[in-house]
Amino acid sequence: MCGIFGYIGKRKNAGALVIKGLKNLEYRGYDSWGVAMRLSDGSIKCEKDVGKIGAVNPDQFKEESSLAIAHSRWATHGGVTKINAHPHFSCDQTIAVIHNGIIENYGEIRDELKAKGHTFRSETDTEVIPHLIEEELKKKGTTLEEATRRACIRFTGRYAILVLDARSQTLVAARTGSPLIIGVGEGGEYFIASDIPAFLEYTRTVQYLDDGEMVAVHDGKIRFSDIASSAERTKRLVTIDWTVSEAEKGEYEHYMLKEIMDQKDSIRRAVHQDDEEILAVAKSIENCIGCILTACGTAGKVCMAADYFFSVVAKRHVNFTPASEFPIFHHFLRPESLIIVVSQSGETADVLEAMKVAKAAGSKVLAIVNTQGSSIARAADYTLLINAGPEKAVASTKAATGQMAVLLLVAHAVAGKLHEGRTLLLETSGQINDMLNPRYIDHIRDVAKKIASHDNMYIIGKGWNYPMAMESAIKIQEVSYIHAEGFAAGELKHGPIALIEKGTPCIALMGNDEFTADMVSNIMELRARGAQIIGIGPKKFDVFDHWIKVPDSGAAQAIVNIIPVQILAYLLAVIRGRDPDMPRNLAKSVTVK
Ligand code: M6R
Repeated sequence: MCGIFGYIGKRKNAGALVIKGLKNLEYRGYDSWGVAMRLSDGSIKCEKDVGKIGAVNPDQFKEESSLAIAHSRWATHGGVTKINAHPHFSCDQTIAVIHNGIIENYGEIRDELKAKGHTFRSETDTEVIPHLIEEELKKKGTTLEEATRRACIRFTGRYAILVLDARSQTLVAARTGSPLIIGVGEGGEYFIASDIPAFLEYTRTVQYLDDGEMVAVHDGKIRFSDIASSAERTKRLVTIDWTVSEAEKGEYEHYMLKEIMDQKDSIRRAVHQDDEEILAVAKSIENCIGCILTACGTAGKVCMAADYFFSVVAKRHVNFTPASEFPIFHHFLRPESLIIVVSQSGETADVLEAMKVAKAAGSKVLAIVNTQGSSIARAADYTLLINAGPEKAVASTKAATGQMAVLLLVAHAVAGKLHEGRTLLLETSGQINDMLNPRYIDHIRDVAKKIASHDNMYIIGKGWNYPMAMESAIKIQEVSYIHAEGFAAGELKHGPIALIEKGTPCIALMGNDEFTADMVSNIMELRARGAQIIGIGPKKFDVFDHWIKVPDSGAAQAIVNIIPVQILAYLLAVIRGRDPDMPRNLAKSVTVK
């Protein structure tokens, strides 16, 4: 949620630089945008507006500046208006603040500050931050760092903030629950952002701010400290292996399509795991008493598929609970339990909360994540990276298949078949490479054109294709805004079949498996009610109105089956004139509960 980016250093184009970098974080929020830059006369130039930052020309911020902050908003408190857009300011206009997260006790702080004479302009929780810092700065000898620390100690909730002080030419950042990463440039310049792509063009050397920490940068010097105790902290320098081109659209019209096509390669990268680490993880799954998978959204559907992987491949019972529901089950956690969390961003608030609950019970946590150095990766006991590279489209595609590949590999390792699992996945990677060609996409486009005008779609599957049916529904819903629902094929006759009308598109996800006869029967039931069947599977059946062929990938069928649905969802969005990269009401990284 919300993109944050700040710069302090020797460059003279800080305003344009932060706007340009923030465009790379637009996937985090795109209701409105804003920038504050310190000009050479000591004043702050601020611009903000509703709408996407993508349309803003960085060249309009050409005034000389070496200190600037910029923000793209995903609204929580207060509507999507220019006044509510960040940055927000102190009464004297010398302190500008941008914020990601929620200050839960903002109401009481605002009332207190109003009573002291502060004037508030917006409906946001954020605006209390600059006013409270301003109030603290009135105390003699207080630095911006100290004033921000005292303000942060008052806040409850999850937040990441950047504070620009025009007078002292200082940039301060603090985090509790929402990500902030410091990019270390040349000659004492620093970039502070909620995600790495903002500054990847300038540096790949980073330092991570942890929860409860803050950082102050002034005159080329940086100081990390603990918010509560003010004790100084030292930070490791970490080199990131993402490249600029990985984080750009390149020849593609949308990130979503680029990321779908990257699956030609990303499964292979996911499988590129250290054998010893995978075997150690497998051992901890074998030895634990109670193994629970937890995640949100698409990553949650991946976990549901993994239930089947562990059951079918490793004969091991693993349960899935959505991360937002996980804390309710804390009674069942014990030190011998193993919690497997799955996340692309590594910053999802509900997952972090689940981890906190698991840790409080003494349980161990294995994280399967895409973002190296993310909060989830750093808080886990063991981490496996899926190596998908940056995923910027809001809809998760290559991260989801990468997560499934790693979980399927681990399931094979638990079964004592690591080599077999890797071979299967490498073969699958080759099959996906063959499948993803322009003719294949044209064929799916023909199908998409035939169904794009429908308002409802249903997807069915059995076995691991059942969670993939649910994941298919998420993909179609979030980018095309068509109402879509995924079901276990056998469940339709228990209620949902009442929704089927003449022509209703129904997608059937099939494998070359023991469920074929059951699936065909369920499809017949749908056809008898007038449904239009789109079959996705390795074999063609007469009951299909349209067939999208996929390779026969055995235990990896869930991975290959979801790919044509991703393409279909993408094309449905494009045909219906939606922006697949930035769907309405959503954001890439959900850092609020
Ligand atoms: O970053 P995460 O994988 O933890 O995100 C979890 C969900 O928010 C995410 O998978 C979401 O459902 C996707 N945008 C759907 O495509």
